[in-house]
Amino acid sequence: MKSQESCSAITPFLSAESIEKRIREMGRTISDDYLEKTRLSPLHLVVVLKGAFIFAADLVRQITVPCTIDFIHASSYGSAKTSSGKVAIKHTLAIEGRHLLLIEDIIDTGLTMQHITAELAALKPASMKICSLLDKPEARLHPVEIAYTGFVVPNTFLVGYGVDYDEQYRQLPSIGVLDS
Ligand code: IMP
Ligand code: MG
Repeated sequence: MKSQESCSAITPFLSAESIEKRIREMGRTISDDYLEKTRLSPLHLVVVLKGAFIFAADLVRQITVPCTIDFIHASSYGSAKTSSGKVAIKHTLAIEGRHLLLIEDIIDTGLTMQHITAELAALKPASMKICSLLDKPEARLHPVEIAYTGFVVPNTFLVGYGVDYDEQYRQLPSIGVLDS
């Protein structure tokens, strides 16, 4: 079997070291911002699977305020590099009265986050903010307010560090551009 790298070219974009450094900074900022709020109840991290699983695993270890963690599954891509325009969301969250921080890998068109925030807002959290490792503002079709952004990136197709193309490349330690 051919290796993934020999099937498609990946141009390096964000190194493992730069991702690690940025996540340390994000963890500090989030911890400072939630210091007061979490005196009463822990910050509740809601990780959007699958793409954010590695980001979340690294970020949570940089958060120093009390927190809990849960997962939601959202999919808007099939095997294509463009959004299908449909979002399927699966979760069993109990979030009423809790301070939510949604952890996402990439905000692209914004469709997925619009669906998730609308659905979760109906469950009456005390507050809800978005933290995304990557933001592609040029691709935005649906407005999304991102409280914490790792990197603003151009409108190209990225893989690695949890982010996939057709379920592949998630295990790469860094992020690269998948050449078409
Ligand atoms: P949106 O609904 O268009 O904002 O897309 C959100 C989801 O699409 C992200 O959470 C990713 O899982 C996926 N996605 C968007 N851009 C890329 C990319 O460049 N590579 C891989 N997945 C992507
Ligand atoms: Mg995602």
